[in-house]
Amino acid sequence: MRILLTGKNGQLGRCFQDVLKNTNYKLFAYGSAELNIADASLLAAIVQQVKPDIIVNAAAYTAVDKAETDADNAYLVNATGPELLAKQAAILGIPLIHVSTDYVFDGAAVEPYLPSDETNPQGVYGASKLVGERAVKAACEKHIILRTAWVFSEYGNNFVKTMVRLAKERDELSVVADQYGCPTYAGDLAKAILHICEQHDHGKVLTWGIYHYCGDTPTSWHGFARAIFYRAEALGVIDKSPQLKAISSDLYPTPAKRPEYSVMSTELLSRIELDASFWMAGLFSVLSKLK
Ligand SMILES: NC(=O)c1ccc[n+]([C@@H]2O[C@H](COP(=O)([O-])OP(=O)(O)OC[C@H]3O[C@@H](n4cnc5c(N)ncnc54)[C@H](OP(=O)(O)O)[C@@H]3O)[C@@H](O)[C@H]2O)c1
Repeated sequence: MRILLTGKNGQLGRCFQDVLKNTNYKLFAYGSAELNIADASLLAAIVQQVKPDIIVNAAAYTAVDKAETDADNAYLVNATGPELLAKQAAILGIPLIHVSTDYVFDGAAVEPYLPSDETNPQGVYGASKLVGERAVKAACEKHIILRTAWVFSEYGNNFVKTMVRLAKERDELSVVADQYGCPTYAGDLAKAILHICEQHDHGKVLTWGIYHYCGDTPTSWHGFARAIFYRAEALGVIDKSPQLKAISSDLYPTPAKRPEYSVMSTELLSRIELDASFWMAGLFSVLSKLK
């Protein structure tokens, strides 16, 4: 099977390349320098040349705060790009696996969000991703959209790596304790996407649609930081955990408003033979690699 991957240099893109190493699938992977997904003619030329059996879109504009003042670019990558990919997939009659975000929700819920729950993004990033989801759905029947959250990995920039760096520099850290979500290991998300590819390869008829793929246990950023320091110290990645202070989001203002409660229900994942990310194990694996 031939897989076309976009966003090969991102956290998910790199983890996906790692999991594909143990397979016989032929991977055609592109970063933004080789394939800007918002470039319609280049995209069409590459898709026609590669003739993939499935497309995995790991490319995105993920700078949540920067998007507030760079909306045109955020929409190009998060809405126009996915729409063009979906149109190409539809022309070939192949599936598109696309990734979206918990930031499509406003965070006012009191119980985990289901994929069918009402969306109401609070910032440009979430809004652009929501337009992308709708465009994919409209252009390509054979789509799986995995909404994920709080992604971390051994690659790129993420909360785990930031916390480890800060723990080496400071004795005390204040972390927001009133925003709740589900940390997700990009390696688990990559394996989940591979399993979707395998099901397609084996001729299984997939139930197309939107799914929530994220960590199995919700926490706050403060709780996540505590878990990181506890394990990082035990593994010898940091010498000593800093004093961790819980603060409210009012004390940590950001250009883009974050949802207070973006916990997503993963219960529908069983329809496509997937389980939620066991993020504690993912954290252990990432910290071991950072050592
Ligand atoms: N990170 C999170 O916490 C988080 C949370 C919720 C959802 N998500 C979603 O999860 C998915 C994967 O995120 P991630 O953390 O792996 O993202 P990431 O590390 O920021 O990687 C995104 C990649 O997209 C590529 N890209 C940007 N603009 C592009 C363009 N015009 N054409 C082609 N490629 C382009 C970049 O490529 P180059 O490096 O080659 O320039 C970058 O490597 C995304 O859909 C994201 O929205 C992430």
